[in-house]
Amino acid sequence: MTTIGTPLSPSATKVMLLGAGELGREVLIALQRLGVETIAVDRYENAPGQQVAHHARTIAMTDPEQLKALILAEKPDLVVPEIEAIATPMLEALEADGIVHVVPTARAARLTMDREGIRRLAAETLGLPTSPYQFCDTLEQLQAAIDGGIGYPCVVKPVMSSSGKGQSKIDGPDDVKAAWDYAMAGGRVSHGRIIVEGFIDFDYEITLLTVRARGADGQVETHFCAPIGHKQVSGDYVESWQPHPMPVNALERARLIAREVTQNLGGQGIFGVELFVKGDEVWFSEVSPRPHDTGMVTMITQWQNEFELHARAILGLPVNTTLKTPGASAVIYGGVDATGIVFDGVDHALQVPQTDIRLFGKPESFVKRRMGVALAYDDDLDVARANALEAASRVKPRAV
Ligand SMILES: Nc1ncnc2c1ncn2[C@@H]1O[C@H](COP(=O)(O)OP(=O)(O)OP(=O)(O)O)[C@@H](O)[C@H]1O
Ligand SMILES: [Mg+2]
Repeated sequence: MTTIGTPLSPSATKVMLLGAGELGREVLIALQRLGVETIAVDRYENAPGQQVAHHARTIAMTDPEQLKALILAEKPDLVVPEIEAIATPMLEALEADGIVHVVPTARAARLTMDREGIRRLAAETLGLPTSPYQFCDTLEQLQAAIDGGIGYPCVVKPVMSSSGKGQSKIDGPDDVKAAWDYAMAGGRVSHGRIIVEGFIDFDYEITLLTVRARGADGQVETHFCAPIGHKQVSGDYVESWQPHPMPVNALERARLIAREVTQNLGGQGIFGVELFVKGDEVWFSEVSPRPHDTGMVTMITQWQNEFELHARAILGLPVNTTLKTPGASAVIYGGVDATGIVFDGVDHALQVPQTDIRLFGKPESFVKRRMGVALAYDDDLDVARANALEAASRVKPRAV
């Protein structure tokens, strides 16, 4: 049985979000609507989620001692990691001591913050299809891995990185050194370990949002959202749409892979399973044990969007992954390096039929920082995509 208390009273059900960006903000809003007391943690002040939570805290989440002190002081019922760069071994220790419950599990947070943890689990423990890969600590090892079977083209990524940082494609021997140097500069930690992956010549890639939630009998059940198609530019998503049309066989395979990997990671909550598809063939790429950026499209396409699904699943409530309408999302970038920017043309953008927008309220803009998203729905996916892009392009960020 799930019981929810009254916020800001001794009976409160308290949830702490570690990471309070645009995805965390929507989870916080969903939790607020269910009467949960929320604590938004980020490494800088006035992060998007901090603006909508009961409490805002600013710490270095990669520092185990700061993280521990905050959790002991706030005593949340649940800790919800919303980003990868967190001192996950400390979360595991606190979870093992029964001090805190991490969503979906502290182990899932640790395995997925590091490409090596999740890749070895998927390919070696679970035997799921992935690109061929090797882990390397030096330029010489990288060259040897390529010559020893990975071949060209291939992709190099720091093991600790996200959003395409430090990631590049190698087309031939002349690119190897540059890819290595780029990875060394782009990783989250200075000592560099990289993964080199054989390049998969996929037809398209999808995010399969997979929800582990308690059913009426109290057992955890697996639910799937309709597949989300997306377009990545330099490792960052720029456009997504749902449902991505797929042959039944490929969809069946995608669901099998998603079910296996999320079952192993365990716990309750939503997962963004990233998959490559070519014909009926499906490869596992990676998984986020949390809402996925490409899943922002569900704010217009589903009865319960990915954030509401996460909030419900982690609280032990039933979920409904039904699609409401086909639709699309398009990212609004900052376009300028400045603080306190303004957005011109929001009215003009919303004149595009069947659209909506979200502006995240980030205090500081960078040229390539995601500052908002445009959403559009239409029975015709091409129309939805065109309208989302049009609405996004009509929003003009400007320094003041
Ligand atoms: N082995 C591969 N073959 C072909 N394309 C790839 C491969 N690995 C990555 N890509 C492309 O690069 C994109 C980003 O890769 P990946 O998801 O591993 O990195 P990421 O930094 O975690 O990105 P994000 O945080 O945006 O999910 C993929 O969505 C895909 O388009
Ligand atoms: Mg990815």
